[in-house]
Amino acid sequence: MAKKQFKKRIGCIGAGYVGGPTMAVIAAQCPDYLVTVVDINEKKISAWKTDDLPIFEPGLLDIVKKARGKNLVFSSDVDATIRDSDILFVSVNTPTKTFGEGAGKAADLQYWEATARNIIKASDSDKIIVEKSTLPVRTADAMDRILNANKKGIHFEVLSNPEFLAEGTAIKDLLHPERVLIGSRETRRGLEARQEIVDIYTNWVDRSRIITSNVWSAELSKLVANAFLAQRISSINSISALCEKTEADISDVSYAIGTDRRIGPEFLDSSVGFGGSCFKKDILNLVYICEHYGLSEVAQYWESVVRMNEYQIRRFVNAMVQAMFSTVARKKIVLLGFAFKADTGDTRESPAIYVARKLMDEQANLVISDPQALENARLDLREIAAGVEFEKDPYKAAKGAHALAVMTEWQEYKNLDFKKIFMGMEKPAFIFDGRNILDHKLLFEIGFNVYPVGKPAMSHF
Ligand code: NAD
Ligand code: UGA
Repeated sequence: MAKKQFKKRIGCIGAGYVGGPTMAVIAAQCPDYLVTVVDINEKKISAWKTDDLPIFEPGLLDIVKKARGKNLVFSSDVDATIRDSDILFVSVNTPTKTFGEGAGKAADLQYWEATARNIIKASDSDKIIVEKSTLPVRTADAMDRILNANKKGIHFEVLSNPEFLAEGTAIKDLLHPERVLIGSRETRRGLEARQEIVDIYTNWVDRSRIITSNVWSAELSKLVANAFLAQRISSINSISALCEKTEADISDVSYAIGTDRRIGPEFLDSSVGFGGSCFKKDILNLVYICEHYGLSEVAQYWESVVRMNEYQIRRFVNAMVQAMFSTVARKKIVLLGFAFKADTGDTRESPAIYVARKLMDEQANLVISDPQALENARLDLREIAAGVEFEKDPYKAAKGAHALAVMTEWQEYKNLDFKKIFMGMEKPAFIFDGRNILDHKLLFEIGFNVYPVGKPAMSHF
């Protein structure tokens, strides 16, 4: 691939859930741009070069295949990619800090800063640096100071272009985004750089969907979008607890309130709790920033969204134990699903991790089933994995079980032959539907004792 045939050279540092799919779509939609994705994890890069991609995401392989070998390259040569790129997207991980000041809340920016230092070291020309990772508001300021303190006379213009894709629907979200947000400084150089990023997206996104702002608004909007989405789930989950006390049905309540255009129907599905690598981390990050600025009431308000989620997960597993006569010791319990949501193999912060650990503490015989996430489940539970059975086939997993608990809303669980499953289970047989995806009335008629979320339990005794 000769460099000069391309209009611009884009590099992306970080080939994870965001870097990989985002760059694959940019490459597929912008044949004039050369897109190189790099990562320090060589195993991951090798996998991106095969048909066995390092992440499961519907439609991803088709998009990768469309561009790979033409204008999409995966490489472990971070320095060369930095040097050769005009525009560098940075999509490294920004987890919650586990040590020192801000531990448990603040974003751990070590990967971010390591990247900045690498950029200075490897660059020999001006570049546009685009924050794709989710970062605390005003990170671009720190980035700008670190980068532009270089002694080579190189100018780095730092922009924010946060990513809003959701896992499981990443390709659809990237191909048809509701909006693209691009924040830049409002200086001549900043505005020129902003236009360069706008020019990439207008290859397939209507200009009316591209929002531009200053850098700080873009950085903060990403944190706020996740906080609002998670807040809706915690709000409906808080009401699910009240439904269980009052014989109201959470699905009816969600539907009734969601038909109000001002509220809307999305993100009102009550569940065992939200998971995923970002909601909790981004809210805690927001909380930390508010505390930093002395806004303790604001911090507490948002922190309650995370606390409510923890309560919901705890409540779910405690209700399981209670329903099964207050003991699950040596009872075989099957978790149907371990991914934090359907259509992904990602298990980061999955409620199933907490549920599994708690059931093991209670000395249950635990079986975990999932169509895509068993490898990650083994890693998440590595300290107790020896005592856990991992079985992809839900029918085999359910044989001789006392209880099933739906943790992930996989489509295939809705279509299982529960009559057949019931026949092979110990009696009384229990089913706990942490996603409210099953036909509860039918399950009850088959003979199960059924425990949904936010709806009356249906028990035969
Ligand atoms: P990820 O862990 O899947 O990927 C990050 C990658 O960066 C890893 O492969 C890691 O090896 C690599 N990396 C770290 N330091 C590096 C360095 N110095 N040089 C080269 N590579 C390096 O994380 P992710 O889920 O893709 O998330 C990345 C960022 O995007 C986070 O800030 C996250 O909050 C944000 N985000 C994630 C999602 C999502 O759905 N996962 C959606 C929107 C935004
Ligand atoms: C979320 C946001 O939806 C994305 O816009 C954002 O880019 C991304 O976080 C991020 O920054 O990482 P994601 O976590 O991939 O995306 O998936 P969601 O569909 O938002 O689901 C998050 C969790 O909430 C899942 O555990 C899901 O099962 C749960 N959920 C979702 C509910 O319990 N109820 C709902 O009504 C919706």
